[in-house]
Amino acid sequence: MDFGFTEEQLMIQDVARRIAQEKIAPSAEYHDRTGEFPLENIRTLGVNGLMGIEVPAEYGGAGMDPISYVLAMIEIAAADAAHSTIVSVNNSLFCNGILKFGTEAQKQLYVRAIAEGREIGAFALTEPQSGSDATAMRCKATKQADGTYVINGKKSWITSGPVAKYFVLFAMTDPEKGARGITAFMVDGDRAGFHRGKTEPKLGIRASATCEIEFNDYIAQADEVLGNEGHGFKIAMSVLDAGRIGIASQAIGLSRAAYEATLSYVKERKAFGQPIGSFQMTQAKIADMKCKLDASLVLTLRAAWQKGKHDKGGARFSTEAAVAKLTASEAAMWITHQALQIHGGMGYSKEMPIERYFRDAKITEIYEGTSEIQRLVIARNETGLR
Ligand code: CAA
Repeated sequence: MDFGFTEEQLMIQDVARRIAQEKIAPSAEYHDRTGEFPLENIRTLGVNGLMGIEVPAEYGGAGMDPISYVLAMIEIAAADAAHSTIVSVNNSLFCNGILKFGTEAQKQLYVRAIAEGREIGAFALTEPQSGSDATAMRCKATKQADGTYVINGKKSWITSGPVAKYFVLFAMTDPEKGARGITAFMVDGDRAGFHRGKTEPKLGIRASATCEIEFNDYIAQADEVLGNEGHGFKIAMSVLDAGRIGIASQAIGLSRAAYEATLSYVKERKAFGQPIGSFQMTQAKIADMKCKLDASLVLTLRAAWQKGKHDKGGARFSTEAAVAKLTASEAAMWITHQALQIHGGMGYSKEMPIERYFRDAKITEIYEGTSEIQRLVIARNETGLR
């Protein structure tokens, strides 16, 4: 099948592949073991346009489309999922939302710094007691007579929280109104009233730093509201639609790495006098891995294509993005599980990257909407029922 990728799309895929193979893959084991944030590699990705793939050149980005984003993300995730988490949050959850809902001044200030890789961006929605039920947030922004807001509360599981300069924050401005009482703010991590908690130790994507953040009488100016007051929940949902395409791409990249390693291994490893790939039980696993990988790729490209149409004024792509993320993340968990099983003891050993792929895959079923939330979004949209 020819997707008719353009020269530009293939070019950014090539750039991503080159950096992924030359810079990211060689240090992936080190970053996983130490949990050290890969700042230098992130800067290199930024200089090469990969921190703002869909950001127009006038705001410091590569000016490419959602398909290019998918192709580049897959290459980065195939080298290291942790790097691709940082890339994905910067591109889809940070830049994407400001481009769509921000003022010209906000785009110049926040998007440019992140797209050029000079600063790191983050997205602060989740709280200790509100994950899937995002409207149950308690973080509060109280409007003052002078038009400024005083923000108090906690946000948890903030990807890149320990290192980010700027955050898109969601806070309640009118708790009586529920989802319609949430407002999005641009927050500066160096300002008084902003505190970072300890970096969370995690099962996978260990070099993608995650922490809690806390606001104690943090003052946001009126021009730091993103979009309109009370529109924050819709902004979060709309940004997450794009984010889910990024996570689907991440899942595909790490699945592809596990699949390719397995293909080589089943041809080399012998048992009972034959390569293990000649046994039907192994062949069935290989065939199923291939089907799940290809299905994930096609569905993710479809979601990206739909997003491209949405960006030009077309319909929402919430269902397509949820279908892609659900399929690709569950495929990633299954593929890495089978890859580990086929590798046997070597798959369980830290001598090979297979156990890392397996650990990294799990998060794709959890963040940016769990598999349960993706099913809920798909079924609600399909049936029209709630
Ligand atoms: N785009 C635009 N608007 C949307 C939308 C979308 N995709 N989805 C919903 N809305 C609008 C609705 O139209 C509705 O608008 P009205 O008030 O005008 O009718 C409003 O938002 C409320 O919608 P719902 O009634 O459907 O909201 P809900 O409370 O039932 O929640 C949900 C829906 C799907 C469960 C949602 O809360 C959800 O997606 N939860 C998961 C949250 C999530 O993904 N968290 C991830 C954290 S971020 C992260 O992981 C980042 C990281 O660090 C990597």
